Amino acid sequence: MQLIAENAKPLTGPEAAEVAAGDALFKGNCAQCHAVNEQVVGPALGGLTNRRPMSWILPWVKNSSKVVASGDEYAVAVFNKFNKQQIPSFALSDKEITSIVAYINSQEGTSMAIAAAH
Ligand code: HEC
Repeated sequence: MQLIAENAKPLTGPEAAEVAAGDALFKGNCAQCHAVNEQVVGPALGGLTNRRPMSWILPWVKNSSKVVASGDEYAVAVFNKFNKQQIPSFALSDKEITSIVAYINSQEGTSMAIAAAH
């Protein structure tokens, strides 16, 4: 299994393990609707940590409708933009979601964003 995309910076140690875990979780839960660098059913997730802080991403992935219902401006806008299509709620832990974000960042090759995801 190739863990790291050709254009990504090589990772070592715990970061590599986290990205590998995130890779598997992303493929199992998110890839049917998302890609990192292109829009599929949902938006391209590349650059996510530049747009949203982890404190937004965690509750969103766990229960996006709750974030929309709270009146969060960004959430309402992205929800409306995608024709009010619901993203499923995921019973993932903070650690699992963080590893998915680390995977997304690794696919863009931004190692700075990986540090920000911790
Ligand atoms: C059934 C399709 C589907 C699945 C599966 C899915 N999403 Fe989504 N996602 C969407 C749609 C559609 C949107 C656009 C917002 C909305 O409609 O609520 C979205 C929006 C998002 C956003 C906001 C993106 C942005 O640029 O603001 C994030 C973050 C996100 N999804 C992460 C994930 C993660 C992580 C997973 C896997 C754990 C996942 N999604 C699984 C359909 C999906």
